[in-house]
Amino acid sequence: MNLFSKFTLAALFIASSLAAAKPNIYILATGGTIAGSGQSELSGDYKSGAKSVDELLAAVPQINDIATIKGEQISNIGSQEMNDEIWLKLANRVSELLTKNDVDGVVIMYGTDTMEETAYFLSLVIKSKKPIVFVGSMRSSTSISADGPLNIYNAVSVAADKNAREKGALVVMNDEIHAAREVTKTNTTNVAAFTSPNSGKIGTVNYGVVNFYMAPLRKHTISSDFNIKDIKALPRVDIIYAHPQDVGDFVETAVQKGAKGIVVAGMGNGNLYPDTEAALAKASEAGVIVVRSSRTGSGSTSVGSEVDDAKLGFLTADNLNPQKARVLLILALSKSSDKAKIKEFFATH
Ligand code: DGL
Repeated sequence: MNLFSKFTLAALFIASSLAAAKPNIYILATGGTIAGSGQSELSGDYKSGAKSVDELLAAVPQINDIATIKGEQISNIGSQEMNDEIWLKLANRVSELLTKNDVDGVVIMYGTDTMEETAYFLSLVIKSKKPIVFVGSMRSSTSISADGPLNIYNAVSVAADKNAREKGALVVMNDEIHAAREVTKTNTTNVAAFTSPNSGKIGTVNYGVVNFYMAPLRKHTISSDFNIKDIKALPRVDIIYAHPQDVGDFVETAVQKGAKGIVVAGMGNGNLYPDTEAALAKASEAGVIVVRSSRTGSGSTSVGSEVDDAKLGFLTADNLNPQKARVLLILALSKSSDKAKIKEFFATH
């Protein structure tokens, strides 16, 4: 065999081995129903976070055909118990992993109750173009027709897909791919609970076949104004839920307890009961940043429609629901207390 043939053979071998090389995906477990275990296959009763990351990954051996997998336990709680300490631990670990050349993406197994907040938080503070994919389940691992295993398989398929890069954090549930900023849990038990009411899903994944149709436009990850490396603690931001015959008591308590920001889930287009509005105006005068969102679940909260934001010093959440607005206001306040700057953050993230 002449030198040229030997060189060609070597080049072909290298090319084929590179093509066959699977991406390296880290799977971080935090708890949730996906790790839940119940007494009966026919009951919604279970304990969240009962199974370890190794047990969960052993239930879906097929993921090893898609990627080289490493599992790690970050926590093992129901996500309704999520706190700032675990939020920062998770974000710092994801940031550390994604700076490694031999890590191509992360999948985070998480409880569905607060997945939307944590996915948005990571999307705003992680400086990487690599895929960050959240996945959970609506049925526990011991349930008939448990949705966890296929959700995990699909989440790893998305994390391994080059088109998942530079889209910010993603949520993969029920064969759908959602952008972290847009997705929200809209049902207490249904496997189709996750929707993006204002913009729709950005892609689908069907037995591992990944298709993207849209990409998020608001700032995230590399383009975001926030970086987990600059964040050591998070300011207190509370959410007040508006209703008829409302009061100002909870606003006053939030201020007394040290809230630096208050998001109000207003009625309709972010509207307020007079007593609540008066308490919020007082809080704003005292330097608390007040952001009006809406309890409706979709749509953008208009500036100044029935509430004189300019006079009262209130900001609005754009089309972020209250829980998402809280995440952005926490990060905004970790960076600045200047109202104009915070208003800009809501207009661009
Ligand atoms: N305890 C809830 C949580 O961890 C269960 C919901 C779920 O994970 O589907 O968010």
